[in-house]
Amino acid sequence: MHPTPAGRFLLLGFFGLLALPYFSVVTIADSGSNCRCIFGDSCWPSASDFSKLAKQVSQPLLKPLPPASPCYPLSRPSGDCEATKRLWTDPSWRANQSGAMQSANFETFVFGNDTTSACFINTTLAIPCGQGSVPVVGIDARNDADVQAAVKFAAAHNLRVVVKGNGHDLSGRSTARGSFVIWTHHMKNITFDALFTPTGAPRSEAGAQAITLGAGVQWQEAYDAVNARSRVLVGGLSPGGTVGAAGGWVLGGGHSVLSPTFGLGVDNVLQFTVVTSNGTRLTANMHRNPDLFFALRGGGGGTYGVVTSVTYKTHPNLPLISAVFSATPSGSQTSGVLQTLLTDLMKAMPGLSDAGWGGTAFVAPDATGNVGLSGSFVLFNGTMARANQSTSPFFSTVTSLASEVTFTTSLTPFDSFHAWYTAMSAQEASVAGTNGALGSWLLPRDVIENHSEHVAETLLPLTGLVMGLYAGGAVAQVDPDTMGLNPAWRTALLHTIFATGWVEGTPVNVIDGLFDQVRQNMTALRSLAPDSGAYFNEASLVEPDPLKAFFGDHRATLKAIKHIYDPIDMFVVPEGIGSDDFDDALICKL
Ligand SMILES: Cc1cc2nc3c(=O)[nH]c(=O)nc-3n(C[C@H](O)[C@H](O)[C@H](O)COP(=O)(O)OP(=O)(O)OC[C@H]3O[C@@H](n4cnc5c(N)ncnc54)[C@H](O)[C@@H]3O)c2cc1C
Ligand SMILES: *[C@@H]1O[C@H](CO)[C@@H](O)[C@H](O)[C@H]1NC(C)=O
Ligand SMILES: *[C@@H]1O[C@H](CO)[C@@H](O)[C@H](O)[C@H]1NC(C)=O
Ligand SMILES: *[C@@H]1O[C@H](CO)[C@@H](O)[C@H](O)[C@H]1NC(C)=O
Ligand SMILES: *[C@@H]1O[C@H](CO)[C@@H](O)[C@H](O)[C@H]1NC(C)=O
Ligand SMILES: *[C@@H]1O[C@H](CO)[C@@H](O)[C@H](O)[C@H]1NC(C)=O
Ligand SMILES: *[C@@H]1O[C@H](CO)[C@@H](O)[C@H](O)[C@H]1NC(C)=O
Ligand SMILES: *[C@@H]1O[C@H](CO)[C@@H](O)[C@H](O)[C@H]1NC(C)=O
Ligand SMILES: *[C@@H]1O[C@H](CO)[C@@H](O)[C@H](O)[C@H]1NC(C)=O
Ligand SMILES: *[C@@H]1O[C@H](CO)[C@@H](O)[C@H](O)[C@H]1NC(C)=O
Repeated sequence: MHPTPAGRFLLLGFFGLLALPYFSVVTIADSGSNCRCIFGDSCWPSASDFSKLAKQVSQPLLKPLPPASPCYPLSRPSGDCEATKRLWTDPSWRANQSGAMQSANFETFVFGNDTTSACFINTTLAIPCGQGSVPVVGIDARNDADVQAAVKFAAAHNLRVVVKGNGHDLSGRSTARGSFVIWTHHMKNITFDALFTPTGAPRSEAGAQAITLGAGVQWQEAYDAVNARSRVLVGGLSPGGTVGAAGGWVLGGGHSVLSPTFGLGVDNVLQFTVVTSNGTRLTANMHRNPDLFFALRGGGGGTYGVVTSVTYKTHPNLPLISAVFSATPSGSQTSGVLQTLLTDLMKAMPGLSDAGWGGTAFVAPDATGNVGLSGSFVLFNGTMARANQSTSPFFSTVTSLASEVTFTTSLTPFDSFHAWYTAMSAQEASVAGTNGALGSWLLPRDVIENHSEHVAETLLPLTGLVMGLYAGGAVAQVDPDTMGLNPAWRTALLHTIFATGWVEGTPVNVIDGLFDQVRQNMTALRSLAPDSGAYFNEASLVEPDPLKAFFGDHRATLKAIKHIYDPIDMFVVPEGIGSDDFDDALICKL
């Protein structure tokens, strides 16, 4: 039942990539009536203002700290530095802290003069611990009333607000220097409905077997809960299952290996509950506030309000087949063979999609440093015969390269998605706590079909390459205009991602150089399908036209909806809807 060593390697490749981005390089403009109030400004609320807020919420106020702070001051560490070093890359340890992001670079702040405020785990660098981009105060929300009190307080004091669930954002959208954080991590309620009908639905509307998740529930918790009811949920894949199941993931789209079968996260939502910037709690579904429902399904996290719960459809728990392969050129012509392998995989993609496969392929070095192509795919509700038949065109092509390629492959049945997920998780290595940046683009099916060789040629020079078969199938069957999600998802077959990274203390100009590379490589990747777009949740921070890339033709509608529900622009995030009305720091309106 266990995936091959190839499976282990490719998952390493995948998560190795997903550690990513940058820190914010921003210039803080003069405070004025057009600007948010941030910590240090004279407008910042007084201690007595904060104690009034503290009386209105269920938990003590948060004073988030950078996760390396126990190691400082260096002369007399305030906490257990050895334990902190040991846990530094543990995704669950990070998700449990209001001051930590999964991608450590977002905890750092770079001033206009290239001076950095950061709190590094590498104490050898001997740099004092700075607060960086970590919020200074916030609330530990446990229920909707907590969120309502926090939103009203933030509006009254014109604060720079960030909404944070489990801190996985790959563009640093859930942290900001001098901000007030609404932390939803502890909103862990999970409820089931055998016959859920959305609020306000006509009696004729059929009920669905549904699960309602509080905003802080993480995928591992959601998968365990739904499996205990013998049902399946469309959800994400990460080491430890720490990504939020009812936060940024779904608000940006939410891809899954099950998406080709059941659609994206947004295609499975029946209802949201939301607190908007005037402190009102609303229900959003097809019948109540349908425009807000449109926006929340893919229009981006941290933009329209604070979601307090998400209700998803569940699906029957059926067996699946896992396909794992690894093909590493072993001869002298390795790069030419790799190009052939990737071209062959591109040629096979439409067929794999039509057969119902979902999953991920990687180009990465193996344990011995040889760069190869690998993959991990699932066929939900499939038979071994169909799995074999549908993978054999690709597998036999690779087999024909036998003398030049070390090739391993396996087809393995699993009783349930949960069993598959558990086996995969057991092999995952986390790169949480590292610093990186990524670029990505959605590649349409017809581009892959007609230009497989050129696609492979363009992808191959990219580092940390990941190709996700998360679209096609059920994703392609949804009318793109029923929700805010980027319409590019509906014609896409592959979500292609590349990444780069750096160590703590790397000079700002060197990091800028890495971003220039991302920018250049994005130009090449984008040119494969200029009219397509990118996935808001896993994309570059250097898009020349981010709103077009992330929301396509839906961006104007989304902005109009945002103005209805957030007329005071409390909720703005980097490269999100409405961010174009603000300076780079998202503090002052232009
Ligand atoms: C290791 C790893 C694996 C990943 N795997 C997948 C995957 O399999 N599929 C996939 O699609 N994506 C994946 N992603 C990307 C993921 O979808 C995004 O990082 C997502 O933003 C994470 O959501 P979060 O709630 O954990 O993060 P956070 O950083 O807490 O929030 C992300 C964004 O959503 C906003 N937000 C969070 N909660 C709320 C709320 N309750 N109301 C309003 N806004 C809110 C925040 O303000 C922020 O803008 C992965 C990322 C990582 C780091
Ligand atoms: C995070 O918190 C959860 C819930 O309290 C706990 O079970 C888990 O062990 C914590 N993770 C770490 C690494 O401490
Ligand atoms: C850079 O800017 C920051 C913030 O304005 C300031 O505190 C710091 O002294 C400056 N550093 C240098 C070297 O100019
Ligand atoms: C910490 O920084 C020092 C100085 O740059 C470097 O030599 C060392 O390799 C770093 N340690 C780790 C664990 O990254
Ligand atoms: C959790 O769910 C239960 C049952 O649906 C509900 O009664 C309760 O109010 C919820 N708690 C919170 C904090 O939302
Ligand atoms: C599972 O496969 C069977 C047989 O092909 C089919 O009848 C059934 O509809 C499938 N169920 C789902 C949920 O895809
Ligand atoms: C597919 O079936 C063929 C013929 O039965 C067999 O030789 C081959 O090993 C199978 N492939 C896999 C990946 O199981
Ligand atoms: C792919 O080929 C089809 C059929 O020849 C053509 O209609 C379509 O425009 C092509 N698409 C691209 C992106 O080249
Ligand atoms: C960008 O492409 C160049 C080659 O064109 C390559 O050397 C570099 O590693 C790539 N960088 C990334 C981040 O993909
Ligand atoms: C708050 O905003 C909602 C949604 O825009 C609106 O329906 C409601 O009337 C507003 N409430 C108040 C008190 O302004």
